[in-house]
Amino acid sequence: MKNLDLYSDEIAKCRVCNEKLSKIIDFGSQPLGNGFLGKSEFKNEFFFPMKLGFSEKSKMIQLFHQPEPERMFHDEYAFFSSTSKYMSKHFEDFSEFVISSGYLEFKNPFVIELGCNDGILLKNFALAGIKHLGIEPSVNVAKEANKNGVNTINEFFSEELAKRILNQYGKVDAFMAANVMCHLPKISDVVRGIKILLKDKGVVIFEDPYLGDVIKKTSYDQIYDEHVFLFSAISVNYLFNLHGMELIDLYPQKTHGGSMRYVLSKKGAYKPSERVFETIKNEKILGLDNLEKFFEFSKKVEKSKHNLITLLQELKDTGKVIAGYAATSKSTTVLNYCGIGQNLIDYICDTTPIKQGKYSPGMHIPVVSHNYFINNPPDFALLLAWNHSEEILEKEKNFINRGGSWITHVPEVKII
Ligand code: TYD
Repeated sequence: MKNLDLYSDEIAKCRVCNEKLSKIIDFGSQPLGNGFLGKSEFKNEFFFPMKLGFSEKSKMIQLFHQPEPERMFHDEYAFFSSTSKYMSKHFEDFSEFVISSGYLEFKNPFVIELGCNDGILLKNFALAGIKHLGIEPSVNVAKEANKNGVNTINEFFSEELAKRILNQYGKVDAFMAANVMCHLPKISDVVRGIKILLKDKGVVIFEDPYLGDVIKKTSYDQIYDEHVFLFSAISVNYLFNLHGMELIDLYPQKTHGGSMRYVLSKKGAYKPSERVFETIKNEKILGLDNLEKFFEFSKKVEKSKHNLITLLQELKDTGKVIAGYAATSKSTTVLNYCGIGQNLIDYICDTTPIKQGKYSPGMHIPVVSHNYFINNPPDFALLLAWNHSEEILEKEKNFINRGGSWITHVPEVKII
Protein backbone atom coordinates (compact mmCIF):
# COMPACT_ATOMS: atom_id res chain seq x y z
CA MET A 1 0.00 0.00 0.00
CA LYS A 2 1.48 3.32 -1.05
CA ASN A 3 1.88 6.02 1.52
CA LEU A 4 -0.49 8.84 0.59
CA ASP A 5 0.48 12.21 1.98
CA LEU A 6 -2.31 14.26 3.42
CA TYR A 7 -2.99 17.57 1.86
CA SER A 8 -3.51 20.97 3.26
CA ASP A 9 -5.21 21.92 0.01
CA GLU A 10 -7.62 19.00 -0.36
CA ILE A 11 -10.69 20.65 -1.82
CA ALA A 12 -14.24 19.66 -2.57
CA LYS A 13 -15.20 22.99 -4.07
CA CYS A 14 -14.35 24.67 -7.35
CA ARG A 15 -11.28 26.92 -7.11
CA VAL A 16 -13.03 29.48 -9.31
CA CYS A 17 -16.69 29.66 -8.22
CA ASN A 18 -16.64 27.82 -4.88
CA GLU A 19 -19.48 25.45 -5.87
CA LYS A 20 -19.31 21.71 -5.20
CA LEU A 21 -17.17 19.64 -7.60
CA SER A 22 -18.57 16.51 -9.26
CA LYS A 23 -16.10 13.61 -9.51
CA ILE A 24 -15.40 12.39 -13.03
CA ILE A 25 -12.41 10.02 -12.83
CA ASP A 26 -10.34 8.54 -10.03
CA PHE A 27 -6.80 7.84 -11.26
CA GLY A 28 -5.78 6.34 -7.93
CA SER A 29 -2.49 7.04 -6.25
CA GLN A 30 -0.12 9.04 -8.49
CA PRO A 31 3.43 10.33 -8.08
CA LEU A 32 4.66 13.69 -9.41
CA GLY A 33 4.57 13.80 -13.22
CA ASN A 34 8.12 15.17 -13.34
CA GLY A 35 9.30 13.29 -10.24
CA PHE A 36 12.12 11.28 -11.86
CA LEU A 37 14.15 9.78 -9.05
CA GLY A 38 17.16 7.73 -7.98
CA LYS A 39 16.93 4.28 -6.36
CA SER A 40 17.71 5.66 -2.92
CA GLU A 41 14.60 7.86 -3.14
CA PHE A 42 12.11 5.05 -3.86
CA LYS A 43 11.33 4.53 -0.18
CA ASN A 44 10.18 8.08 0.44
CA GLU A 45 8.54 8.71 -2.90
CA PHE A 46 5.61 11.12 -2.76
CA PHE A 47 2.17 10.03 -3.96
CA PHE A 48 -1.15 11.83 -3.99
CA PRO A 49 -4.73 10.76 -4.75
CA MET A 50 -5.47 12.02 -8.26
CA LYS A 51 -9.14 12.62 -8.95
CA LEU A 52 -10.63 14.78 -11.66
CA GLY A 53 -13.64 16.99 -10.98
CA PHE A 54 -16.03 19.31 -12.83
CA SER A 55 -17.91 22.36 -11.64
CA GLU A 56 -21.32 22.71 -13.20
CA LYS A 57 -21.26 26.45 -12.50
CA SER A 58 -17.86 27.62 -13.77
CA LYS A 59 -17.56 24.64 -16.18
CA MET A 60 -13.99 24.31 -14.95
CA ILE A 61 -12.34 20.87 -15.06
CA GLN A 62 -9.85 20.52 -12.21
CA LEU A 63 -8.05 18.19 -9.83
CA PHE A 64 -9.50 17.67 -6.37
CA HIS A 65 -6.01 17.54 -4.85
CA GLN A 66 -2.80 19.14 -5.94
CA PRO A 67 0.59 18.76 -4.25
CA GLU A 68 2.09 21.97 -2.86
CA PRO A 69 3.76 24.03 -5.63
CA GLU A 70 7.16 23.81 -3.88
CA ARG A 71 7.12 20.03 -4.37
CA MET A 72 6.72 20.41 -8.13
CA PHE A 73 8.73 23.53 -9.04
CA HIS A 74 12.12 23.67 -7.37
CA ASP A 75 15.87 23.73 -7.97
CA GLU A 76 15.84 20.44 -9.86
CA TYR A 77 12.80 20.90 -12.07
CA ALA A 78 13.25 18.33 -14.82
CA PHE A 79 11.41 20.02 -17.66
CA PHE A 80 13.43 22.20 -20.04
CA SER A 81 11.30 23.70 -22.80
CA SER A 82 14.14 23.93 -25.31
CA THR A 83 14.51 20.14 -25.68
CA SER A 84 12.31 20.06 -28.78
CA LYS A 85 13.19 21.80 -32.05
CA TYR A 86 9.51 22.04 -32.86
CA MET A 87 8.85 23.88 -29.58
CA SER A 88 11.67 26.37 -30.23
CA LYS A 89 10.07 27.16 -33.59
CA HIS A 90 6.63 27.35 -31.99
CA PHE A 91 7.83 29.95 -29.47
CA GLU A 92 9.55 31.96 -32.18
CA ASP A 93 6.18 32.05 -33.99
CA PHE A 94 4.45 32.93 -30.71
CA SER A 95 6.75 35.95 -30.26
CA GLU A 96 6.14 37.06 -33.86
CA PHE A 97 2.40 36.72 -33.26
CA VAL A 98 2.59 39.01 -30.21
CA ILE A 99 4.99 41.55 -31.76
CA SER A 100 2.88 41.92 -34.91
CA SER A 101 -0.50 41.67 -33.13
CA GLY A 102 -1.08 45.40 -32.88
CA TYR A 103 -1.61 45.03 -29.12
CA LEU A 104 1.85 46.39 -28.19
CA GLU A 105 2.25 50.16 -27.93
CA PHE A 106 4.59 51.50 -30.57
CA LYS A 107 6.79 53.29 -28.05
CA ASN A 108 8.59 51.30 -25.34
CA PRO A 109 6.33 48.28 -25.05
CA PHE A 110 6.75 46.04 -22.04
CA VAL A 111 5.92 42.33 -21.90
CA ILE A 112 5.90 39.80 -19.08
CA GLU A 113 5.94 36.04 -19.30
CA LEU A 114 4.75 33.95 -16.41
CA GLY A 115 6.68 30.67 -16.10
CA CYS A 116 9.31 31.59 -18.68
CA ASN A 117 11.21 28.31 -18.10
CA ASP A 118 14.62 28.48 -19.85
CA GLY A 119 13.63 31.63 -21.78
CA ILE A 120 12.49 29.84 -24.93
CA LEU A 121 9.83 32.52 -25.69
CA LEU A 122 11.25 35.66 -24.09
CA LYS A 123 14.68 35.35 -25.68
CA ASN A 124 12.98 36.38 -28.93
CA PHE A 125 11.75 39.60 -27.27
CA ALA A 126 15.22 40.14 -25.76
CA LEU A 127 16.73 39.77 -29.25
CA ALA A 128 14.21 42.28 -30.64
CA GLY A 129 15.26 44.75 -27.91
CA ILE A 130 11.80 44.74 -26.27
CA LYS A 131 11.58 45.46 -22.55
CA HIS A 132 10.60 42.18 -20.92
CA LEU A 133 10.46 40.32 -17.64
CA GLY A 134 10.28 36.59 -16.99
CA ILE A 135 8.85 35.14 -13.79
CA GLU A 136 9.99 31.61 -13.05
CA PRO A 137 9.79 29.78 -9.70
CA SER A 138 12.13 26.87 -10.55
CA VAL A 139 15.71 27.97 -9.73
CA ASN A 140 17.57 25.81 -12.25
CA VAL A 141 15.50 26.76 -15.29
CA ALA A 142 15.36 30.44 -14.22
CA LYS A 143 19.19 30.45 -14.18
CA GLU A 144 19.18 29.08 -17.71
CA ALA A 145 16.80 31.87 -18.80
CA ASN A 146 19.10 34.53 -17.35
CA LYS A 147 22.01 32.89 -19.18
CA ASN A 148 19.96 33.16 -22.37
CA GLY A 149 19.81 36.95 -21.94
CA VAL A 150 16.29 36.94 -20.50
CA ASN A 151 15.68 39.21 -17.51
CA THR A 152 14.12 36.76 -15.03
CA ILE A 153 13.01 36.84 -11.42
CA ASN A 154 12.88 33.63 -9.47
CA GLU A 155 9.56 33.71 -7.58
CA PHE A 156 5.99 32.40 -7.61
CA PHE A 157 3.55 34.93 -9.09
CA SER A 158 0.84 36.43 -6.90
CA GLU A 159 -1.16 39.62 -6.50
CA GLU A 160 1.49 40.76 -4.01
CA LEU A 161 4.34 40.21 -6.50
CA ALA A 162 2.29 42.02 -9.18
CA LYS A 163 2.24 45.12 -6.95
CA ARG A 164 6.02 45.00 -6.54
CA ILE A 165 6.54 44.55 -10.28
CA LEU A 166 4.20 47.47 -10.97
CA ASN A 167 6.31 49.74 -8.72
CA GLN A 168 9.57 48.66 -10.26
CA TYR A 169 8.71 48.19 -13.95
CA GLY A 170 5.30 49.78 -14.65
CA LYS A 171 2.29 48.40 -16.54
CA VAL A 172 2.46 45.84 -19.33
CA ASP A 173 1.20 45.71 -22.90
CA ALA A 174 1.11 41.93 -22.98
CA PHE A 175 1.10 39.46 -20.12
CA MET A 176 1.94 36.06 -21.59
CA ALA A 177 2.09 32.48 -20.41
CA ALA A 178 2.48 29.15 -22.17
CA ASN A 179 1.57 25.89 -20.44
CA VAL A 180 1.59 27.67 -17.11
CA MET A 181 -1.86 29.10 -16.26
CA CYS A 182 -3.30 25.58 -15.98
CA HIS A 183 -0.65 24.88 -13.29
CA LEU A 184 -1.84 27.56 -10.87
CA PRO A 185 -4.32 26.50 -8.18
CA LYS A 186 -4.66 30.04 -6.78
CA ILE A 187 -5.83 31.18 -10.19
CA SER A 188 -8.08 33.98 -8.89
CA ASP A 189 -5.14 35.59 -7.07
CA VAL A 190 -3.12 35.30 -10.29
CA VAL A 191 -5.83 36.92 -12.42
CA ARG A 192 -6.17 39.77 -9.89
CA GLY A 193 -2.39 40.27 -10.13
CA ILE A 194 -2.50 40.28 -13.92
CA LYS A 195 -5.26 42.90 -13.92
CA ILE A 196 -3.19 45.20 -11.71
CA LEU A 197 -0.34 45.02 -14.21
CA LEU A 198 -2.34 45.47 -17.41
CA LYS A 199 -2.47 48.77 -19.30
CA ASP A 200 -6.02 49.84 -20.28
CA LYS A 201 -5.47 48.40 -23.76
CA GLY A 202 -3.12 45.67 -22.53
CA VAL A 203 -3.80 42.02 -23.27
CA VAL A 204 -3.28 38.65 -21.67
CA ILE A 205 -2.13 36.04 -24.16
CA PHE A 206 -1.76 32.54 -22.90
CA GLU A 207 -1.94 29.00 -24.20
CA ASP A 208 -2.56 25.68 -22.54
CA PRO A 209 -3.61 22.14 -23.48
CA TYR A 210 -7.20 22.39 -24.71
CA LEU A 211 -10.00 20.44 -23.11
CA GLY A 212 -11.70 19.98 -26.51
CA ASP A 213 -8.67 18.04 -27.80
CA VAL A 214 -8.32 15.96 -24.64
CA ILE A 215 -11.95 14.87 -24.94
CA LYS A 216 -11.77 14.25 -28.70
CA LYS A 217 -8.53 12.21 -28.48
CA THR A 218 -9.05 10.59 -25.07
CA SER A 219 -5.62 12.03 -24.23
CA TYR A 220 -6.10 11.66 -20.50
CA ASP A 221 -2.33 11.89 -20.01
CA GLN A 222 -2.70 15.69 -19.97
CA ILE A 223 -4.05 15.15 -16.46
CA TYR A 224 -1.25 15.08 -13.88
CA ASP A 225 -0.21 16.88 -10.71
CA GLU A 226 0.99 20.06 -12.42
CA HIS A 227 -2.14 20.48 -14.53
CA VAL A 228 -4.62 21.47 -11.90
CA PHE A 229 -7.00 22.83 -14.59
CA LEU A 230 -7.97 21.79 -18.11
CA PHE A 231 -9.35 24.89 -19.83
CA SER A 232 -12.02 25.50 -22.43
CA ALA A 233 -13.06 28.85 -23.93
CA ILE A 234 -16.19 28.71 -21.78
CA SER A 235 -14.33 28.19 -18.49
CA VAL A 236 -11.57 30.72 -19.28
CA ASN A 237 -14.17 33.34 -20.15
CA TYR A 238 -16.07 32.58 -16.94
CA LEU A 239 -12.91 32.98 -14.85
CA PHE A 240 -11.79 36.29 -16.38
CA ASN A 241 -15.36 37.69 -16.42
CA LEU A 242 -15.31 37.45 -12.63
CA HIS A 243 -12.44 39.98 -12.72
CA GLY A 244 -13.89 42.44 -15.24
CA MET A 245 -12.05 40.93 -18.20
CA GLU A 246 -13.17 38.98 -21.26
CA LEU A 247 -12.04 36.65 -24.01
CA ILE A 248 -11.50 38.67 -27.19
CA ASP A 249 -9.84 36.12 -29.43
CA LEU A 250 -8.46 32.60 -29.59
CA TYR A 251 -6.32 30.44 -31.84
CA PRO A 252 -6.04 26.62 -31.81
CA GLN A 253 -2.45 25.32 -31.59
CA LYS A 254 -0.87 21.95 -32.42
CA THR A 255 1.39 21.94 -29.36
CA HIS A 256 0.93 19.43 -26.53
CA GLY A 257 -1.36 17.37 -28.71
CA GLY A 258 -3.83 20.24 -29.10
CA SER A 259 -3.75 23.54 -27.25
CA MET A 260 -5.62 26.83 -27.36
CA ARG A 261 -4.13 30.32 -27.35
CA TYR A 262 -6.47 32.72 -25.54
CA VAL A 263 -6.37 36.51 -25.87
CA LEU A 264 -8.12 38.50 -23.13
CA SER A 265 -8.44 42.15 -22.23
CA LYS A 266 -10.28 44.39 -19.81
CA LYS A 267 -14.01 44.38 -20.66
CA GLY A 268 -14.83 46.77 -23.49
CA ALA A 269 -11.20 47.44 -24.50
CA TYR A 270 -11.67 45.45 -27.74
CA LYS A 271 -14.58 43.86 -29.56
CA PRO A 272 -14.46 40.04 -29.16
CA SER A 273 -13.88 38.30 -32.51
CA GLU A 274 -16.39 36.05 -34.26
CA ARG A 275 -14.07 33.14 -33.42
CA VAL A 276 -14.88 33.55 -29.73
CA PHE A 277 -18.62 33.17 -30.33
CA GLU A 278 -18.12 30.31 -32.78
CA THR A 279 -15.80 28.38 -30.43
CA ILE A 280 -18.11 28.77 -27.45
CA LYS A 281 -21.04 27.61 -29.59
CA ASN A 282 -19.04 24.56 -30.73
CA GLU A 283 -17.99 23.73 -27.19
CA LYS A 284 -21.64 23.65 -26.18
CA ILE A 285 -22.45 21.37 -29.12
CA LEU A 286 -19.53 19.10 -28.08
CA GLY A 287 -20.88 19.05 -24.51
CA LEU A 288 -17.84 20.64 -22.82
CA ASP A 289 -20.25 22.35 -20.42
CA ASN A 290 -22.02 19.12 -19.56
CA LEU A 291 -21.26 16.60 -16.80
CA GLU A 292 -22.69 13.71 -18.87
CA LYS A 293 -20.01 14.28 -21.52
CA PHE A 294 -17.30 13.79 -18.91
CA PHE A 295 -18.82 10.53 -17.68
CA GLU A 296 -18.65 9.35 -21.29
CA PHE A 297 -14.99 10.46 -21.39
CA SER A 298 -14.31 8.49 -18.23
CA LYS A 299 -15.60 5.29 -19.91
CA LYS A 300 -13.31 5.91 -22.89
CA VAL A 301 -10.32 6.35 -20.57
CA GLU A 302 -11.03 2.97 -18.95
CA LYS A 303 -11.25 1.35 -22.38
CA SER A 304 -7.97 2.93 -23.48
CA LYS A 305 -6.29 1.55 -20.33
CA HIS A 306 -7.64 -1.94 -21.01
CA ASN A 307 -6.52 -1.88 -24.66
CA LEU A 308 -3.02 -0.63 -23.87
CA ILE A 309 -2.35 -3.22 -21.17
CA THR A 310 -3.72 -5.99 -23.42
CA LEU A 311 -1.55 -5.00 -26.39
CA LEU A 312 1.66 -4.64 -24.36
CA GLN A 313 1.03 -7.94 -22.56
CA GLU A 314 0.41 -9.79 -25.84
CA LEU A 315 3.69 -8.46 -27.28
CA LYS A 316 5.58 -9.26 -24.11
CA ASP A 317 4.15 -12.80 -24.07
CA THR A 318 5.78 -13.38 -27.46
CA GLY A 319 9.14 -12.22 -26.10
CA LYS A 320 9.26 -8.74 -27.63
CA VAL A 321 11.38 -5.95 -26.19
CA ILE A 322 9.35 -2.78 -25.67
CA ALA A 323 10.80 0.65 -24.91
CA GLY A 324 9.10 3.89 -23.98
CA TYR A 325 10.13 6.81 -26.19
CA ALA A 326 10.51 10.08 -24.17
CA ALA A 327 10.15 10.28 -20.41
CA THR A 328 7.37 12.84 -20.50
CA SER A 329 5.46 14.08 -17.48
CA LYS A 330 2.23 13.05 -19.15
CA SER A 331 3.45 9.45 -19.40
CA THR A 332 3.52 9.29 -15.60
CA THR A 333 -0.28 9.24 -15.55
CA VAL A 334 -0.53 6.53 -18.21
CA LEU A 335 2.14 4.27 -16.71
CA ASN A 336 0.83 4.52 -13.15
CA TYR A 337 -2.88 4.39 -14.01
CA CYS A 338 -2.34 1.34 -16.24
CA GLY A 339 0.20 -0.24 -13.86
CA ILE A 340 2.88 -0.46 -16.57
CA GLY A 341 6.33 -1.11 -15.12
CA GLN A 342 9.45 -2.99 -16.19
CA ASN A 343 7.23 -6.07 -16.52
CA LEU A 344 6.05 -4.56 -19.81
CA ILE A 345 8.48 -1.78 -20.71
CA ASP A 346 12.22 -2.46 -20.56
CA TYR A 347 13.43 1.14 -20.53
CA ILE A 348 12.46 4.68 -21.49
CA CYS A 349 14.84 6.80 -23.55
CA ASP A 350 14.95 10.57 -23.23
CA THR A 351 17.20 13.37 -24.46
CA THR A 352 17.09 15.38 -21.19
CA PRO A 353 20.36 14.79 -19.28
CA ILE A 354 18.77 15.43 -15.84
CA LYS A 355 16.33 12.52 -16.40
CA GLN A 356 18.90 9.99 -17.63
CA GLY A 357 20.18 7.47 -15.08
CA LYS A 358 17.03 8.03 -13.02
CA TYR A 359 13.79 6.06 -12.84
CA SER A 360 10.28 6.95 -13.94
CA PRO A 361 7.99 8.26 -11.18
CA GLY A 362 5.97 5.55 -9.45
CA MET A 363 6.63 2.63 -11.80
CA HIS A 364 10.45 2.95 -11.66
CA ILE A 365 11.30 2.12 -15.25
CA PRO A 366 14.97 3.06 -15.96
CA VAL A 367 15.43 6.23 -18.03
CA VAL A 368 18.32 6.00 -20.47
CA SER A 369 19.88 8.23 -23.11
CA HIS A 370 18.77 8.48 -26.69
CA ASN A 371 22.06 6.83 -27.67
CA TYR A 372 21.05 3.76 -25.71
CA PHE A 373 17.88 3.54 -27.82
CA ILE A 374 19.97 3.80 -31.01
CA ASN A 375 22.43 1.12 -29.83
CA ASN A 376 19.80 -1.18 -28.27
CA PRO A 377 16.75 -0.79 -30.50
CA PRO A 378 13.65 -2.47 -29.09
CA ASP A 379 11.12 -4.40 -31.18
CA PHE A 380 8.44 -1.87 -30.25
CA ALA A 381 8.59 1.69 -28.97
CA LEU A 382 5.64 3.22 -27.16
CA LEU A 383 5.36 6.88 -28.13
CA LEU A 384 5.11 8.52 -24.74
CA ALA A 385 5.60 11.88 -26.48
CA TRP A 386 2.84 11.16 -29.03
CA ASN A 387 2.34 14.92 -29.31
CA HIS A 388 5.75 15.14 -31.02
CA SER A 389 5.10 12.12 -33.24
CA GLU A 390 5.68 14.00 -36.52
CA GLU A 391 9.13 15.18 -35.40
CA ILE A 392 10.04 11.83 -33.84
CA LEU A 393 8.89 9.57 -36.69
CA GLU A 394 10.73 11.79 -39.14
CA LYS A 395 14.05 11.65 -37.29
CA GLU A 396 13.79 7.97 -36.30
CA LYS A 397 13.29 6.48 -39.78
CA ASN A 398 16.18 4.13 -39.04
CA PHE A 399 14.25 2.52 -36.23
CA ILE A 400 11.62 1.35 -38.73
CA ASN A 401 14.28 0.39 -41.29
CA ARG A 402 15.86 -1.86 -38.68
CA GLY A 403 12.55 -3.66 -38.11
CA GLY A 404 11.14 -1.66 -35.18
CA SER A 405 7.49 -0.58 -34.83
CA TRP A 406 5.79 2.29 -33.04
CA ILE A 407 2.88 1.97 -30.64
CA THR A 408 0.63 4.87 -29.74
CA HIS A 409 -2.26 5.15 -27.32
CA VAL A 410 -3.72 8.39 -28.75
CA PRO A 411 -6.35 8.80 -30.12
CA GLU A 412 -6.63 5.04 -29.78
CA VAL A 413 -4.30 2.20 -28.84
CA LYS A 414 -2.62 0.80 -31.95
CA ILE A 415 0.59 -0.23 -33.66
CA ILE A 416 1.35 2.49 -36.19
P1 TYD B 1 6.65 16.97 -23.84
O1 TYD B 1 5.58 16.42 -24.68
O2 TYD B 1 6.85 18.44 -23.85
O3 TYD B 1 6.53 16.41 -22.38
P2 TYD B 1 5.63 16.70 -21.11
O4 TYD B 1 4.58 15.63 -21.06
O5 TYD B 1 6.63 16.53 -20.01
O6 TYD B 1 5.04 18.07 -21.23
O7 TYD B 1 8.03 16.24 -24.26
C1 TYD B 1 9.24 16.61 -23.66
C2 TYD B 1 9.96 15.39 -23.17
O8 TYD B 1 10.16 14.46 -24.23
C3 TYD B 1 11.36 15.72 -22.66
O9 TYD B 1 11.63 14.86 -21.56
C4 TYD B 1 12.28 15.38 -23.83
C5 TYD B 1 11.56 14.24 -24.45
N1 TYD B 1 11.80 14.10 -25.89
C6 TYD B 1 12.77 13.19 -26.33
O10 TYD B 1 13.41 12.52 -25.52
N2 TYD B 1 12.99 13.07 -27.67
C7 TYD B 1 12.30 13.80 -28.58
O11 TYD B 1 12.53 13.65 -29.79
C8 TYD B 1 11.30 14.73 -28.12
C9 TYD B 1 10.52 15.54 -29.10
C10 TYD B 1 11.09 14.84 -26.76
